[in-house]
Amino acid sequence: MSNKMWGGRFSEGPDAIMEEINASIGFDQKLYSQDIAGSKAHVRMLAAQGIVAADDAKAIEDGLDTIKGEIEAGSFTFSRALEDIHMNVESRLADLIGPKAGRLHTARSRNDQVATDFRLWVRDTLDTLDVQLLELQLAFVAKADEFASAVMPGFTHLQSAQPVTFGHHMMAYVEMLARDRGRVQDARQRMNECPLGSAALAGTSFPIDRHMTAKALGFDRPTANSLDGVSDRDFALEALSSASICAMHLSRFAEELVIWSSAQFRFVKLSDKFSTGSSIMPQKRNPDAAELVRAKSGRIIGDLNALLIVMKGLPLAYSKDMQEDKEQVFDALQNLSLCIAAMTGMVKDLEPNLKELKKAAGSGYSTATDLADWLVRTLGMPFRNAHHVTGSLVAMAAERSIELHKLSLEDMQTVEPTITEDVFSVLSVDKSVRSRTCYGGTAPVNVKKQAKSWLKKLEKEKAAKQ
Ligand code: ARG
Repeated sequence: MSNKMWGGRFSEGPDAIMEEINASIGFDQKLYSQDIAGSKAHVRMLAAQGIVAADDAKAIEDGLDTIKGEIEAGSFTFSRALEDIHMNVESRLADLIGPKAGRLHTARSRNDQVATDFRLWVRDTLDTLDVQLLELQLAFVAKADEFASAVMPGFTHLQSAQPVTFGHHMMAYVEMLARDRGRVQDARQRMNECPLGSAALAGTSFPIDRHMTAKALGFDRPTANSLDGVSDRDFALEALSSASICAMHLSRFAEELVIWSSAQFRFVKLSDKFSTGSSIMPQKRNPDAAELVRAKSGRIIGDLNALLIVMKGLPLAYSKDMQEDKEQVFDALQNLSLCIAAMTGMVKDLEPNLKELKKAAGSGYSTATDLADWLVRTLGMPFRNAHHVTGSLVAMAAERSIELHKLSLEDMQTVEPTITEDVFSVLSVDKSVRSRTCYGGTAPVNVKKQAKSWLKKLEKEKAAKQ
């Protein structure tokens, strides 16, 4: 049997394989509520414009509500022969209200319909992600505030570089997440134009009111070019690229958690709630959630790549290739949401091991830069010379396998005779971090101030969203 929605010029139904490759209902049924909202807005506009009689429009709207109820109750039967969510809904509407159901598809096409449904889904999901990211920022800010003056080693090349505070490290992620949220909000704002009424590709000769449907669906305006309206998937790509960058950020902290929670580092304890044991090695506490967050960045970035490659080289306007846009976006955004939730839980429960952090902060000659700075400040030495002198002192300490502050003044004076006792005042880790008061520096007073101001800002935002 040929397709009852578009089979007019077909004498035979599709090959079974054709049906399998063609159908999207397996995944686009996720768009049912957006599809029904779009159809309701469309038919109401058709009635307002006198294109469809008011009582037909009312029957269509009521039928659509019934269908929504059926889908939500789990009593709706999705049919692969009907390809996609749009035709599944329309066919059921015909069962429910008879031939007038056929008026719904006046002045539209599945091309503008799917573009609209999908935008609505992406838009709503970006809004949810933004709220989740705000919660994660709050979790980091709380840790930063609590541990604003707890010292830890700061790393470059994963080698001890200079001491920093644990709070400062937490606040670095607050900044990253703020940029992630900026990208999400920016993408959301740019995508908020309604393609409905672009019809198949060229617009329609019916006197539709695209501003009315755009407004009804919460869009800022209709898209300005019908060809672009049906063929644009930038909104999906921008969502995926924002998601990819965010996932990349999460993977960096996930990696740090894996390293920090290892027996070799012992910087933090991850909560039992986000760790697993080993079935053979009783001593193990594995950071599985962190590892999975780290790994999921791979599939999210993969999803972005996949859609970029689907879209690359597609001639205007719609091509069926574009049906391959949805699974990547669903996969990426749902997994990102899960990662953010897992990360929020891990950060909230995170227990820094202050003793280990302090011990590690002082090892590895982490205050060598402070010594060089002291030579510049107190003895008026050019920095390059100070760097050289400090290097010799570090080499001397390393040869004896001791920390810098364990060298005696006499030993130091063999390298630089004018060094005084005062030098020891900068060799302590606490002094080192406290001295870094420049804007953006790691000094505890800075961290406290930043944490407090972010907390205020985020709580205000959170209240405004509720
Ligand atoms: N299921 C299709 C998709 O997701 C809907 C649009 C189909 N349009 C068409 N001309 N065949 O892209």
